[in-house]
Amino acid sequence: MDDLLDAGERLGRPELAALQLERLRATLRHAYANVPFYRRAFDAAGLRPEDCRSLADLARFPFTTKADLRDHYPFGMFAVDRSRIRRIHASSGTTGRPTVVGYTDRDLDVWAEVVARSIRAAGGRPGDTVHVAYGYGLFTGGLGAHYGAERLGCTVVPASGGMTARQVRLIQDFRPEIIMVTPSYMLTLLDEFERQGVDPRSTALRVGIFGAEPWTDGMRREIEERFGIDAVDIYGLSEVMGPGVAQECVETKDGPHIWEDHFYPEVVDPITGEVLPDGEPGELVFTTLTKEGMPVIRYRTRDLTRLLPGTARAFRRMEKVTGRSDDLVILRGVNLFPTQIEEIVLRTPGLAPHFQLRLTREGRMDALTVRAESRPDTPPERRAAAAREVAAAVKDGIGVSVAVEVVDPETLERSVGKIRRIVDLRE
Ligand code: DLL
Repeated sequence: MDDLLDAGERLGRPELAALQLERLRATLRHAYANVPFYRRAFDAAGLRPEDCRSLADLARFPFTTKADLRDHYPFGMFAVDRSRIRRIHASSGTTGRPTVVGYTDRDLDVWAEVVARSIRAAGGRPGDTVHVAYGYGLFTGGLGAHYGAERLGCTVVPASGGMTARQVRLIQDFRPEIIMVTPSYMLTLLDEFERQGVDPRSTALRVGIFGAEPWTDGMRREIEERFGIDAVDIYGLSEVMGPGVAQECVETKDGPHIWEDHFYPEVVDPITGEVLPDGEPGELVFTTLTKEGMPVIRYRTRDLTRLLPGTARAFRRMEKVTGRSDDLVILRGVNLFPTQIEEIVLRTPGLAPHFQLRLTREGRMDALTVRAESRPDTPPERRAAAAREVAAAVKDGIGVSVAVEVVDPETLERSVGKIRRIVDLRE
């Protein structure tokens, strides 16, 4: 493995820290000189880029939020002349304007490098065929994965999302070793294999690289067993780059290693904004270290995790993201993330890995119904028992009462990309 590592992955911690500081200072200078938003924000804080003399000094600089990006829609956060922007992506979000991001030639080159590095860490090798079922288009998943796989020297099948029956055919006929897709769409593919009477373990697939949404170790086991593959986590976000900000190594499967030579992480208290020591859970914040087109300084991801020491690489890891503050349900004062329900559903015998959370209001109280699908061969008594077990596990583990409905196989909406877990029917 060692001889496959690139120069960045071979850096020791002291060399890495020196490189990070040099790149950080250059990024602060670039943002201050070229983006009026950053100039105003630094001025208001009484700071100059030169005031960053150590990595710890970054904590003195102001945060950037999604609202800041929206307020400068579409191109107000770009730091180079429009003619140097080679590509634009955007993420729709649930409300209002999309968030727009722009890349220079060099940004696209770095992005391809970090995704190639990610696929290699996942166990992909030059010559492998990679089936990309992340959506192509303004979403960063499809094209981000695509150019990274090409950069590694793989053959790419640009399937994009949707046309599920055809995807299953392509996977059988083209025999890719690697698939890149959201974990929820992988389950949709699994259904389709079964519908067509094809054994999902009969493909050439060896590794699945899953991300763009939270997923649990329970889901990892389900996918690994059903397909007979290794399932690893890829993390990223458009505002920082796209997929390939962090990647789990196949040999350890212990949370994504952050490609810290390009993206500098901090974890902060979500309420006070104070930087927390490694190991403490909080909100992940990123500063880009090499981006030209749209550098971001201390971008608040709203993803909750903690920083951990490196294992398979010298880079630090992040704990698998199991929730983002946007997905937090506060039910009668109790905090709950959809992934907590996923853990419970996946370990309950008789239930399929498909579930949905319905929020309703009864009088002045919010109520949550977990709708989970039965597996096809589950007898009625087991379904009823499963419903009771899920309700009891939520009550014991999370501390709140929920209703549980076990519904027939193939009744819940299936994912073609990022799945929507919460259906909010409150006024
Ligand atoms: O989802 C980029 C991506 C594409 C990552 C394909 C991995 C694979 P956005 O649409 O901007 O970008 O959404 C970013 O998705 O802040 C997280 O909340 C969530 N997310 C992404 N990867 C993971 C992951 C892409 N591995 C937002 N685990 C992020 C949990 C993830 N959540």
